Amino acid sequence: MRGCARCALAETRQNVVFGVGRRDTGVMFIGEGPGQQEDLTGEPFVGRAGKLLDDMLTVIGLDRTRVYIANIVKCRPPGNRDPLGVEQDACIGWLRNQVALIHPKIIVCLGRIAAMRIIKEDFKITREHGVIFPRGDYRLMATFHPSFLLRDPRRRPEAFDDLKILEAAILECCPETLV
Ligand code: URA
Repeated sequence: MRGCARCALAETRQNVVFGVGRRDTGVMFIGEGPGQQEDLTGEPFVGRAGKLLDDMLTVIGLDRTRVYIANIVKCRPPGNRDPLGVEQDACIGWLRNQVALIHPKIIVCLGRIAAMRIIKEDFKITREHGVIFPRGDYRLMATFHPSFLLRDPRRRPEAFDDLKILEAAILECCPETLV
């Protein structure tokens, strides 16, 4: 991907942020797109939101070495704006291949942008977070984006409930992810 120039984000990126984690995991997390720290380091979720994601994983006995973490777009949208539809369209093939190779049992979308792209176009994060959507071989779910939880900590109890739902799903279909 380092030479990818399928969209204009290639012109402003420092690094492609491909993904991180374990090839044989049962659980894949999908965020929106890299921020500044991620662009500088080439690793997803290493800034403030990433620290919160690490804490969220710890709640259910996970850490980033046991799961896989990727984003809808692999290059930073300038100024941390939402990735445009054309940018998502240009990038989504890379993510499809990642999903096909890792073949997780559970895909957790972090925030509405990922949920609208992966689960359904009219996904409503406030109403449908924590709901499991079976889709072929996969179970899809979404929870709040850690950046959103940093801005609105009152939502954290709901995110905690989502994590417990995720934990139950892991115990049911891929308990080896937790050990
Ligand atoms: N936010 C995201 O959606 N992805 C990252 O990698 C970092 C912050």
